[in-house]
Amino acid sequence: MGAQDLAIWLNHFEHHALQPRCVSHGLSDVLRPDERKLIASSIATFQLGERSEGRTLLRATERFARESQLPHLPRIIELLIREEQRHAALLGAFMRDHRVPPKTTDWTDRIFRLVRRLAGLQLYVSVLICAELIGHVYYRALELATDCERLQVLCRTIVSDELAHVGFESQLLFTLRAGRAAWIRALTRPAHRIFFAITAAVVWPMHRSVLRKAGHSGRSFLRSCQAQYDFYLEPTGLLAGRYMDAHL
Ligand SMILES: [Fe+2]
Ligand SMILES: [Fe+2]
Repeated sequence: MGAQDLAIWLNHFEHHALQPRCVSHGLSDVLRPDERKLIASSIATFQLGERSEGRTLLRATERFARESQLPHLPRIIELLIREEQRHAALLGAFMRDHRVPPKTTDWTDRIFRLVRRLAGLQLYVSVLICAELIGHVYYRALELATDCERLQVLCRTIVSDELAHVGFESQLLFTLRAGRAAWIRALTRPAHRIFFAITAAVVWPMHRSVLRKAGHSGRSFLRSCQAQYDFYLEPTGLLAGRYMDAHL
C-alpha cells in the first residue's frame, strides 16, 4: 500500500466523515415481539463490538506510520473507528426505540479486545478483519431475518461501510505482512485462515437464531464467511497480481 493508495483511502474516509451515515425518516419501524425476541441478544452483541474506542489500534498505527513514513495512515484509522462508532450509535438508537437492552460486556467481545490489546498492529488488523468479514455476513442475514424496514436499511447501510473497511484493511494487512520474513509469512497465512474458521464456528451457535431465520445452516454460514475471506485475503485476478504476488 503506497502513499497514493493511502491518499485515495483518506479521501474516501474524509468524504464519509463529512456526510455521516443516517437512516432516513419515514421508513416503517415496526419490530414484532417475536422478531424482537429473536434478535435482541444478538444485535446487542454486535452493537457492543462496534463501540470500541480503538485507542490501542491508533497507538499501534501511529508507531507504524512513523516508522514507515505513511503520514495519512493514523487519520484514516481514526476516521474508520469513527465510522464504527457511528454504526454503534445507529444500532443503539434502534435498540433504544425498540426497548432492546444494550450489553456492557460479552465474553467474545472481551476475548477480541484482550487479543487486540496484547497485539501489535499486524495481529490487531488480522483479528479486526475477521470480525469485519463475519459481521458482513451477519448484517446481511439480519436484514433477511426481519420485516422491519428501518432495520433492513440500517443493515444495508452498515454493510456498505464494512465493504470499504475490509477493502482497506486487507490492503493494509498485505502491506504489514510484506515487512516480515518469508518463513513468517508462510506460517501467518494458514494460521490466520484457521483462526478465522474457528471464530466463524464460535459465532454460529451464538447467533444461530438470526442466521437460521435468514436461511443459513451452520454449513452455509461457514461457507459464506469463507467466501468473504477468500475474496479479500486470498484474491485471484487483478488484486492478486497487485498485492499478493508483490508482497506474499
Ligand atoms: Fe461496523
Ligand atoms: Fe467495519
